[in-house]
Amino acid sequence: MAAQNLLLCLTKEQTDFTEENFFGCLLKLRRENVLEKYVIRGGRRLSGEIEVSGAKNAAVALIPAVLLCDEPCVLENVPDISDVSISLRIMYEMGAKVEYLDKTTVRISAEGLKNFCVPYESARRMRASYYFLGALLGRFSKARVSMPGGCPLGDRPIDQHLKAFSALGAKCNIEYGMVDLYAEHLRGSQIYLDVVSVGATMNAMLAAVRADGLTVIENAAKEPHIVDLANFLNSMGADIMGAGTDVIKIRGVKNLHGTTYSVVPDQIEAGTFMVAAAATGGDVLIKNVIPKHLEPITSKLRKIGVNVDEYDDSVRVWVDGPLVRTNIKTMPHPGFPTDMQPQMATLLTLAEGTSIVTEGVWEQRFRYVDELRRMGADISVDGKVAVIEGTGKLTGAPVKACDLRAGAALIIAGLAAKGITEIEDIYHIERGYGNLVEKLRKVGADIQKVTSPVATMREAVSG
Ligand code: EPZ
Repeated sequence: MAAQNLLLCLTKEQTDFTEENFFGCLLKLRRENVLEKYVIRGGRRLSGEIEVSGAKNAAVALIPAVLLCDEPCVLENVPDISDVSISLRIMYEMGAKVEYLDKTTVRISAEGLKNFCVPYESARRMRASYYFLGALLGRFSKARVSMPGGCPLGDRPIDQHLKAFSALGAKCNIEYGMVDLYAEHLRGSQIYLDVVSVGATMNAMLAAVRADGLTVIENAAKEPHIVDLANFLNSMGADIMGAGTDVIKIRGVKNLHGTTYSVVPDQIEAGTFMVAAAATGGDVLIKNVIPKHLEPITSKLRKIGVNVDEYDDSVRVWVDGPLVRTNIKTMPHPGFPTDMQPQMATLLTLAEGTSIVTEGVWEQRFRYVDELRRMGADISVDGKVAVIEGTGKLTGAPVKACDLRAGAALIIAGLAAKGITEIEDIYHIERGYGNLVEKLRKVGADIQKVTSPVATMREAVSG
């Protein structure tokens, strides 16, 4: 890894550059390339309190948004996850100053930054690197970023992003795996999104905030992280109205200024912990949440017999009876979130009766089902529909995470299963869940993160 990345790693981990810290950091980086697993002994009821972190899907948009001003911005409640580390590393590699003030607060300054090209290797590692397109276009009227990576959920085009950029006056060209944007002059425009797209909505906002005149985005996505980006940009002096509805109006401003802003709590991390509490028959208070953002998840959990008590900034999830079947169709917010589909499907394997889960957003979001079948789940999948026969129980097995939320589902299955579950490819999970083992152990889960080779994973758990 380039020395400068190492430096960034040190910046986060240590403030004083000493030989000991340097080698400590080297060791950590080496560990990142060593096979790591979660080993879970299931069957324990979760109980106690869990604190939710800032939202991944907000943070990965707010970090590039700092490029839109020449003053330092301080982001609070930043989640400790690898997608954020990659976003910060890209900022650092482009010449921004990045400094961790504490574990969840980072100060970023793009003052004097001239670079409009994002390094290929870093950008292709995640989906959210496409936000650098909108932010760089908004700052320089040009941008050069690799085509994005991200979870393998089927076709993940960016045609709506490019449609938005073109409407604002940019010419778009894709060659050698890079997206090139150039605009003589960015001017406000009417943008109608053919598909409700979170990414395209965010990117249109980023590109439009400093364009001349009024931009209207119609058929906009309404997720909580869309509202969070609009609030962040407005705190920098932007003029955005309507975020959270399907029509967003943006009056371009000449300049933006620095700000201090706290990332919105993660709706999906909160939902994941709610489902984990339900799957283990537990009683957990999930803190640092916005209950309104959880409504689609809360209503489904209540429907299957889970109790959910809502407070100002927390929810209590507890179970006092059998779980029963239900049907779910994932949709853009405020529908049931697609990023909660694998976790909810896992819970429904424990409910009595036959449930039907329809994936309304992605083409292929049932790849985790094969792994659940290893644990005794009875699920049949036909295209975008999964039919789940609730067996009421799961048994532990060695399984692999195939993407971020699939990995979260396997953790939930392992927590509920009888026996030991070993989950490989946990790097997928650590893209979006920070300090997960620590948080789950705090509410009674028997979960370890082990580095293979270990004589046997079972020794790791019983050791
Ligand atoms: C964001 O992905 C999230 N990722 C995803 O979360 C989430 O599943 C998705 O929104 C839907 O909520 C981030 O925010 C980093 P979309 P994004 O554009 O922006 C189609 C997770 O687990 N589409 O809203 O890529 C697309 O194929 C991740 O945290 C086009 O056709 O999703 C899909 O069917 C996984 N053309 C639908 O729209 C485009 O130009 C929704 O995609 C863009 C999208």
